[in-house]
Amino acid sequence: MRAARAYTGRDVIACCGYHGWQDWYIGTTTRSRGVPAAVRELTRTFTYNDLGSLERIFAEHPGRVAAVILEPVGVVEPEGDFLQRVATLTHAHGALLIFDEIITGFRLALGGAQERFGVTPDLACFGKAMANGFPLSAVVGRREIMEVFDEIFFSVTFGGEALSLAAARATIAKLREQNVIEHLWRQGTRLRDGYNALAREVGLASRTQCLGYPPRTVLTFSDVAGTPALAMKSLFQQEVIKRGILIAGGFNLCYAHSDDDVRRTLEACGDALAILARALAEDRVAARLEGPVIQPVFRSA
Ligand SMILES: Cc1ncc(COP(=O)(O)O)c(C=O)c1O
Repeated sequence: MRAARAYTGRDVIACCGYHGWQDWYIGTTTRSRGVPAAVRELTRTFTYNDLGSLERIFAEHPGRVAAVILEPVGVVEPEGDFLQRVATLTHAHGALLIFDEIITGFRLALGGAQERFGVTPDLACFGKAMANGFPLSAVVGRREIMEVFDEIFFSVTFGGEALSLAAARATIAKLREQNVIEHLWRQGTRLRDGYNALAREVGLASRTQCLGYPPRTVLTFSDVAGTPALAMKSLFQQEVIKRGILIAGGFNLCYAHSDDDVRRTLEACGDALAILARALAEDRVAARLEGPVIQPVFRSA
């Protein structure tokens, strides 16, 4: 954000997705305590696949938008050429396009969502899969923009830590040589399709789904009269965890996930979905919970 602001000489940010705990982003959510109002006013949110919501931000802040940052894809697929249209609109207004590829990078494709969808942003950030869990992240971009780092201050206590750089090199070599990303797509597809088939079998297809691109999918639940979605999700997770699979609302694939892991996971999901279907039929979802209902960490403000 500081690089985009320094490069453009502007201060407003338009964002879409999740971007971590720093003031400029978290101030847009219900967890904004401690973020000054002056900072919160500088970030505006827009809606994925809704170009009009981004157009409105440009219209409301003429000549002031420094950057448009988005997760290039989350659970919902981009409609048509949405990403290209975001790029064109952003550049027409003299702002920079930033892809937050913390999740999609080195996962959807080796070159992230930008490779998969053929839209190259001005700046992008990567982390997570890049060094296989080692503490490393990267900001990358066009040379003339990156050169502002020569002027803006950038230094961190652990900046000299080199082990994670070695981990990233080893990880990237392995991703390439062993077709890891293909493996993530294959196992993720089996989990996603398998889950949706199980939901159909117990008559819950309209209440729960596994959505998203196979390397990282998300389980959704929707309210049934009298039973909130979060209670359903809590019971489902409780029963999957009891069967030895730690689950937090989706499938985040890695190279270690074997055919047997997929089979065991689907078996646990099948049992849990059958229990959920029965509890719904008997209106006993809350009664079957052995702990409190899970709560969202935060919501968009
Ligand atoms: C899409 C996305 N952006 C940003 C972040 C935040 O990254 P960091 O914790 O390194 O600031 C995360 C972390 O989960 C993320 O998933």
